[in-house]
This record gives sequence, structure tokens and C-alpha cells, in this order.
Amino acid sequence: MMSGGAEYVELGWTGEKVSRVGLGIWQFSESWGVTEYDLAKSIIESALDAGINFIDTAMVYGFGLSEEFLGRAIKDLGVRDQVFIATKIPGEFLSRDDVFKAVNNSLKRLQVDAIDLMQVHWPPCWHNIPTCEYMKALEQLVNMGLVRYIGLSDFPVELVESARECLSTTDIVSLQIRYNLVERDAEKELIPYALSNDLAVIPWSPLAKGALTGKYTPDNLPEFKDVRSREPLFTKENMAQIYRVVEVLQDLSGKYGKTPAQLALRWLIDAYPNIIPIPGAKNPGQAVDNAGAMGWKLSYDDWLRLDQVSRSVRISRVTY
Ligand SMILES: NC(=O)c1ccc[n+]([C@@H]2O[C@H](COP(=O)([O-])OP(=O)(O)OC[C@H]3O[C@@H](n4cnc5c(N)ncnc54)[C@H](OP(=O)(O)O)[C@@H]3O)[C@@H](O)[C@H]2O)c1
Repeated sequence: MMSGGAEYVELGWTGEKVSRVGLGIWQFSESWGVTEYDLAKSIIESALDAGINFIDTAMVYGFGLSEEFLGRAIKDLGVRDQVFIATKIPGEFLSRDDVFKAVNNSLKRLQVDAIDLMQVHWPPCWHNIPTCEYMKALEQLVNMGLVRYIGLSDFPVELVESARECLSTTDIVSLQIRYNLVERDAEKELIPYALSNDLAVIPWSPLAKGALTGKYTPDNLPEFKDVRSREPLFTKENMAQIYRVVEVLQDLSGKYGKTPAQLALRWLIDAYPNIIPIPGAKNPGQAVDNAGAMGWKLSYDDWLRLDQVSRSVRISRVTY
């Protein structure tokens, strides 16, 4: 069994070496509450020190604040060559003109010459932009050297296939998806598709927005003041189901000397070769804790125990 230390994996077909656990920085926004630059910088610094090199942001996180903090911290810490920057363009900004304008703004906020991975955050659903319009615009940015790779986020397989057919000089490299121990729908189509097409899988909310960390119990739920105030995962009914998984994580915690968060992340990365969860962190300690999911393995029996208990979880998103 490996013990401790960072692990790296190739991002899809690219040959780029990225850490098996990344850092999500939606937290740098009013939605989650990290709005002080010094705190954001210390989270990034701790994550890098712990071996993380893959950082996921988006234009919409804090309406540019998250990208701005990342760019500033990379500059202040002098670490551009140590960070693989993944950002996202929202589904609202996908006309050809808006793709160019938005990417230009993003480059300025990030203070870089090129964005490593530009992901389409979600498909356009209100503005009737044809799939090939934005995919070809992104391909042009790759050819111009302003974007290095393209990824898709929250796309169903049918639309992933249509999007790939629009490209002629490059291909997408990754699918970002909602995926964690208690939300496993991506296993039905998206993960098998990614595996058979050599695409990286980037699970978001890999800790089920904190529900898997053991801090929250069905009978003692705080009144969340952040994005979780309307999150269906935290209804009493759903938390009662999730807590059956948390109890197993807590039981295994002593055996492995790992936190429930580390075990929940390890369960994800043990199962697939090309998967890079991006847990969000609100302080440096959480970033370091999450990096500690690297460098060891669950036994097959324990992996299966988590698999089985989580298979019986049924989350309902119908809250009214
Ligand atoms: N593509 C998309 O549509 C999409 C959607 C959502 C998120 N994302 C990306 O995915 C990233 C992660 O998702 P997420 O932020 O929704 O959920 P998450 O990573 O599942 O949960 C993050 C939250 O869990 C708690 N936490 C994190 N590490 C912990 C640890 N080691 N111990 C105890 N508590 C810990 C923190 O909140 P508390 O301490 O307050 O509990 C933190 O804010 C985001 O930052 C973003 O980059 C993408």
C-alpha cells in the first residue's frame, strides 16, 4: 500500500501531468464566502505545497472574483509554471462574439497569456446558439494559442458527441460532471463514454458539498447562509440517507487514520484511472486535508463496502 505523497495522472490524451486531486475555487465568491484575497492566496499556496497543481475556477464564480484572486495569487507567489489553470465560460456567453470577448476578459483577470483548459460550463439553454458556433470559436482560440485545451461541463453524452463533431483540428480533453459517493448518475453514461474516448473525468462537488465530511448530521443541520441554503442534498430526508454512508466513512476513518473527506475522495480515484476530483476548500487546512487523499489506497473490501452502502442511497431533488 502506498502511503502519503502526491500522485499525478495524465489529463485525458494530453500527456499533461496533473495531481489526482485538484482544488475547486468556486469558494472564492459570495456563494461560499471566501471573499478576502489573503485567505484565498493562503488556500492556493497550501494546496500547491501539498502537491496539488490542478485548479478549477470559472468566469461566473464571484462574477470574476475567483479568476481574479487566482491570477493575483499565481503572480504574487510566482508559480505560473506550477499551476494547470482550468476555467469555464458560462452557457450565456456562447455566441461567437461573446466567446472571444469573455475569453479575453478571463485572460486579463488571470493575468496569463494562455488558459490551460477552457471548459464550456453548461450548454446554452436560453439563447439558441448552435453547438458548432461556440465549439469552432473555441477551436480557433486553441489554434491562436490563447487556450491550450477545451473541455465540457454538465453536457449529456448526445451533446458531447455533437460538440466533438464540430472540431477538426483538436478534440475536447475532459468532461466535468457532478459525481460523488451519493450522486452516481454519471456512472450510467458519461464515465463509460469518457473512459472509452480517453477523456479525463473531473468530478465536481466530490464531497457532496460537505455532506460527506461527517460535520453535518440529519438531526443537527445548521441553517446554511451560503449556496447550500437551497441545496436539496441537505434536506432532512436526503441527509438521513447520506448519513448511512457517512457512518461507514467514520468507521473506516480510525482504521486508515484518514478523515471521512479523504476516504470519500479516495473511493472516487481508486475506481477509475483518469479521474480528477476538485474538492473546494474554505481554508488552507481543508485544502491540505483533501490533498491527503493521494498516496495510498483503500483495500478492495473497504472500497466495496462503501460502494454497496452508497448504491442504496436515493437522493430526491423534489423539495416542494
Ligand atoms: N461544473 C459545475 O457545474 C460545477 C458545479 C459546482 C462546483 N464545481 C466545481 O467543483 C468544486 C467543488 O465543488 P463544491 O464546492 O460544490 O463541493 P465540494 O467540493 O463537494 O464541497 C466543498 C465544501 O466542503 C467543505 N469541505 C471541503 N473540504 C473539507 C474537508 N477536508 N473537511 C471538512 N470539510 C470540507 C467546505 O465547506 P464547509 O467547511 O462550509 O462545510 C467546502 O466549501 C467547486 O469549487 C467548483 O470549482 C463545478
